Amino acid sequence: MQIGITYDLQAEYLAQGMSEESTAEFDRPDTIEAVDDTLKSLGFATDRIGHIQNLAERLVAGSRWDMVFNIAEGVRGFGREAQVPALLDAYDIPYTFSDPLVLSLTLHKGMTKHVIRDLGIPTPDFRVIESEPDIRSTDLPFPLFAKPVAEGTGKGIGASSVIRTKRELSMVCRSLLGRFRQPVLLERFMPGREFTVGIMGTGRASEAIGAIEVFLRKGAEPAAYSYHNKKRFEAVVEYRPAADETAQKAVEVALAAWRGLGCRDGGRIDLRADAEGMPNFLEVNPLAGLNPEISDLPILCTLAGMTYRDLIARIMDSALARVENRNRFAAAA
Ligand SMILES: Nc1ncnc2c1ncn2[C@@H]1O[C@H](COP(=O)(O)OP(=O)(O)OP(=O)(O)O)[C@@H](O)[C@H]1O
Ligand SMILES: [Mg+2]
Repeated sequence: MQIGITYDLQAEYLAQGMSEESTAEFDRPDTIEAVDDTLKSLGFATDRIGHIQNLAERLVAGSRWDMVFNIAEGVRGFGREAQVPALLDAYDIPYTFSDPLVLSLTLHKGMTKHVIRDLGIPTPDFRVIESEPDIRSTDLPFPLFAKPVAEGTGKGIGASSVIRTKRELSMVCRSLLGRFRQPVLLERFMPGREFTVGIMGTGRASEAIGAIEVFLRKGAEPAAYSYHNKKRFEAVVEYRPAADETAQKAVEVALAAWRGLGCRDGGRIDLRADAEGMPNFLEVNPLAGLNPEISDLPILCTLAGMTYRDLIARIMDSALARVENRNRFAAAA
C-alpha cells in the first residue's frame, strides 16, 4: 500500500526569509524521518510529497496514493490546515486526520469555543477582539487571558498574557492585534491544574490514551505553558501522568469535545481547571506534533506506556477503517 506524506518543513520557509516564530509550527526533518521510517516498518511503501505546492504539482502530473499521511500545517489564512485535505478530497484520495471542516473550525479557537459551548462542554467565558472598540466594550471580569485566535506552539503567549487591569487589557490586546494581524481571543483566566489529554481514533471508536498534568518548574515563565516554556520544555516543564478524579474529569471533557467536533484518528486536547477545580476545554490539536522526542502527544504516549510505532499504527488503523467503511457502503449501494 502506497502512503504519501504531506508536511511543511520549517527549513524551507526559513530559507524563504520567514522568521523562527512564524515557522514554529512547521516540522523538523527528524519528524518526517520518524513518521516515514515508522510507516515503512509497519509494512507500507512511502512517498514524501512535501507541502501543498508539491502535492498540487504531483497530482496534476498524475501521481496517486492509496492514502496520504497528512501533517501539513499550511501557511496562510484560517483555512491553512484544511488546504491539503480539501485538495485530496477533490482528487478522492483518503488521508489521515480531520477533514477541511474540522481543521478550519479548530484553527479558530473562538469559533471552536462557540461550538464547544453549544455542546454544553465547559470552556472559559470569552470574547473575540477584532479591533479597538471591542477592547473598550469588553465586560468580562479580571483576571483574563489573551492569545492570538489562530496560532499554536504557544505563539503570542507569555508572561503578559495574564491580564489584571484595564490598562493591561488595552496594551496586550493592541500589541497582539498588531503583531499577529488576526483577532485576539480573550478568556477568563483558569487558575487551576493544567492537563493535556491524548486521544486516538474517531467518533464513538475514539478513546483517551491518558491525561498528563503540565507543571512549570522553577525558572519557567510564570502562569502559562508559553512559547518560551515550550521551547525550553526539557529544563522548565514537567509532565506527570495523572489519573485522579480531576484528571478523569479532564479525560471525559476531552473525549466529549473530540467527538462533538468530529476530530479523527488522533490528537490532543488542552484543558485547565477553573477555581472550582473543573477542567475546562482550552483548545484541540487535531494535527498534533509528531516528533518522537519533543512533541507533547508522543511524550504523553511514552508516559502511558505506548510506543511511537503503536501511535503511528493506531492513526493508520483509524484512517484505514474509514476507507474500508466507505468501500463497504459503496459496495452495498
Ligand atoms: N484561559 C486560560 N487561562 C489560563 N491559562 C491559559 C488559558 N488559555 C491558555 N492558557 C495557557 O496558555 C497555554 C497555551 O494556550 P493554548 O493551548 O491555547 O495555545 P497553543 O499555542 O495553541 O498551544 P499548542 O502548543 O498546544 O498548540 C496553555 O497551555 C495554558 O498554559
Ligand atoms: Mg495548547
